[in-house]
Amino acid sequence: MRERPLAVLVESIHAGADAPLLEAGFDIERLPGSPGPEELGELLGRATVVGLRSKTQLGKARLQSGGPLAAVGCFCIGTDQVDLVSAARCGVPVFNSPFSNTRSVAELTLAEIIALSRRMLEKSMQLHAGRWDKSARQSREVRGRTLGIVGYGHIGSQLSVLAEDLGMRVVFFDIARKLAMGNAQPLPTLEALLKASDVVSLHVPDTDRTRGLIGARELAQMRPGAMLINNSRGRVVDLEALAASLRSGHLSGAAADVFPEEPAENGDGFRTPLAGLSNVILTPHIGGSTEEAQGAIAVDVAEKLARYWRHGTTATAVNFPQVDLPQVREGLLRILHVHRNVPGVLGTMHTLLAKSGINIHAEFLQSDQETSFVILDVDRFGDARLLDGLRAMPETIRMRVAG
Ligand code: NAI
Repeated sequence: MRERPLAVLVESIHAGADAPLLEAGFDIERLPGSPGPEELGELLGRATVVGLRSKTQLGKARLQSGGPLAAVGCFCIGTDQVDLVSAARCGVPVFNSPFSNTRSVAELTLAEIIALSRRMLEKSMQLHAGRWDKSARQSREVRGRTLGIVGYGHIGSQLSVLAEDLGMRVVFFDIARKLAMGNAQPLPTLEALLKASDVVSLHVPDTDRTRGLIGARELAQMRPGAMLINNSRGRVVDLEALAASLRSGHLSGAAADVFPEEPAENGDGFRTPLAGLSNVILTPHIGGSTEEAQGAIAVDVAEKLARYWRHGTTATAVNFPQVDLPQVREGLLRILHVHRNVPGVLGTMHTLLAKSGINIHAEFLQSDQETSFVILDVDRFGDARLLDGLRAMPETIRMRVAG
């Protein structure tokens, strides 16, 4: 058994992750790429926490392999790469960083609104090709124009503020009631937004309701000469229909950062119906890819892992009962006990502690349907048999003393 906990960070996680983990007492082992199956198995045999990004898959078999793994950090937004249900059943909370790249996406979108309005890429490419074509035709200022934001969540509302600062008028449509930022105006339907906007920017999640949200019918509802930006999820827009609308001249420009199918690796080939169309900006899913966002994600997820290790805090875990705990009081021991959510477990734990004459100073319990998480702050005690007794209860999934 290791004396110090080990954090294994794969896929070149930003160096900002190190400080919170070192401070929590972790040793750190880093891997530049995603480990192969054998290497991953070996790492999971030793790692107390694993930090990964989108390429490393943690499925059921891996999670059930019985190693010391206490928590997983997804140093990104998505958590599809980890089997969240299996992780919870193994008593392993999974953390991610849902908002660290919000500003990056909003800034890219803002840049695209101006670039499309000035046909900047087209003119730049002409000049690269040796053609001088100075003209004001079809170039517009964005000041005074209407931006329609579909999905007024973290990114949409951030963009709203930035666009108003540029002098744009902002309208938005969201299926949930949202607080309008600044002078932004909510509209009751998507159709109303499409008819009112010079630029439409999509910031919705990928759901049954948003797949194919913008097709031929919706594009036809947009103003002649309007522009569409999709930096949300690839399946939200019908790209064939968008290409047809651009070719016909109904829309005057578009930007897409996300696509229904995206290559797995850098350097892989890529095809889209939008390729080669004029005044279309294509970017390879880089909306959230900035140094700042990567740094913020690293600190955010590492702090969550450190807090869980030291105090048992699971707040914001994506698969686990949520507790937000204060630091354990001086002189006390904090026991973290994850068990199957069935009746009688707390009673058994209390009996075990009472029999040992140990006083409970604080107790926290949080459950979801399958799993319960109990945190007990108790007198420090010398007899390891009590911990063995708690560990040996048939309902116990995982137990440890906070680090
Ligand atoms: P969020 O969850 O804060 O906001 C999404 C909003 O969309 C919510 O207010 C929700 O009520 C609304 N919504 C859901 N279904 C809708 C519908 N049918 N019509 C209208 N509104 C609807 O999400 P956040 O953080 O603002 O992200 C938005 C999108 O951006 C997500 O799809 C996310 O995956 C994507 N994204 C893309 C990145 C990139 O690199 N291009 C980076 C980060 C996020």
